[in-house]
This record gives sequence, C-alpha cells and structure tokens, in this order.
Amino acid sequence: MTEKKRWVLGITGASGAVYGIRLLEVLSARGFGVDVILSEAGRQVLREEMKIALPEDLDAARETLSKNFNLDASTFCIYRNNDFEASAASGSYRCEGMVIAPCSMGTLAAVAHGLASNLIRRAADVMLKQRRTLILLARETPFSAIHLENMLSLSRLGAVILPPIPAFYQQPKTVADLVDFVTGRVLDVMGVDHTLYRRWGEGENQNP
Ligand SMILES: Cc1cc2nc3c(=O)[nH]c(=O)nc-3n(C[C@H](O)[C@H](O)[C@H](O)COP(=O)(O)O)c2cc1C
Repeated sequence: MTEKKRWVLGITGASGAVYGIRLLEVLSARGFGVDVILSEAGRQVLREEMKIALPEDLDAARETLSKNFNLDASTFCIYRNNDFEASAASGSYRCEGMVIAPCSMGTLAAVAHGLASNLIRRAADVMLKQRRTLILLARETPFSAIHLENMLSLSRLGAVILPPIPAFYQQPKTVADLVDFVTGRVLDVMGVDHTLYRRWGEGENQNP
C-alpha cells in the first residue's frame, strides 16, 4: 500500500485564518495527509474571524474542525505548538513541505532568524535546512522595512513568500472567489492539481 503524501500546515495569528482552513479542505479532499499546527494567536484569530472556538483537547479540536468545514477527520492531525516531539520537528520526517497560512510577521521574523521556539517555527526551520518547499502567506499591511528584509532573507533561502493578494481580472463575485484564487496560487506552488480559479485564457471556474 502506498503511503499518503503529507504536508505540514501552520496556522498563525495573522488575519486570514480562512486561507489555512480552505487549504486544509482542498488537501483533505485530494487525499493528502495534513499535520496541522495552530499557534495560540492562530486559534484566537480563528475564533475572531470564523467564529470557531477550538477545544484544548486535540481530538475534540479535530472533531470541531471536521464538523464545521468540509473535512474528512481521518486525513489530518492537529499538534500542539509546543510539541517538539511531533514528527514535523525532525528532518527525518517524510513530507512534501510546509505552508504557513496565514503567516504573522512575528512568525516570519522568527523563521527568518532561525528562532525555532515553537513547533511551527521549528518545522519551518527544518524545511529550510532540508531544502523542502516552504510557503509563507505573509500577511500585514503596510509592510515595514523589517518585514520586507525578513521576507527577502527567506526568499533568498528558498522559501516562497506568497502574500494573500487576490487578482481582480477574474471578476470575483464573492469572498470565497477571492479566497479560492489565493488558495489556488498556493496549490500551484505546491504542485497540487486543482480548478479553484480560472487560469488566464482558460474556461469557467470549478470547485475541486
Ligand atoms: C484579530 C487579529 C488579527 C491580527 N492580524 C495580524 C496580521 O494580519 N498580521 C500580523 O503579523 N499579526 C497580526 N495579529 C497579531 C499577531 O496575532 C501577534 O503578533 C501574535 O504574537 C503572532 O503570534 P504567532 O505568529 O505565534 O501566531 C493579529 C492579531 C489579532 C488578534
């Protein structure tokens, strides 16, 4: 039996929790395994923006996410952000890479400077050292010179800086269209096939 391909998904406390959730929905529907790590601020923003309060218990948190979104609970696991024994903390872990969606400026700074002080930061550090895919949906506006310098450092190290910036040539009608455009661009970088947005010069949008 072939093992599922796995991705690590960090959800931090920047605005845009919906991007992490939508990515999880698509990866789950596509049959990938996903290791989800939420920071404390990530949980807080999820509560503010999506009105979902995740229980502390990890199984209950998984159940809550599955019930509220279009998710198969068997496809993902949730890890505590202080769990340095999690597989994602090790370079020996077999996975495709990691996405931090959304990525706060605090996490961006920590990753840019090798400060592996929680599991999200440690897993990102591992992706860099192992030369695996690392995608950061860095979200803030406006950016300070510190933010920009940290992004440049990470880009030079091989990470992909993908701020959640939608395009409007698609004629989006709903917030979901905007979210799917950004999510689709993330999936493009991950090399995951999808039909979340209409590519320039191609036909109508479809769901995954
Ligand atoms: C509702 C809300 C929205 C926030 N939006 C952002 C944001 O867009 N970008 C950012 O860098 N920080 C934002 N923050 C602040 C971060 O959550 C804060 O800096 C936190 O320490 C980040 O920690 P983390 O990277 O471990 O999740 C927001 C906080 C709240 C409560």
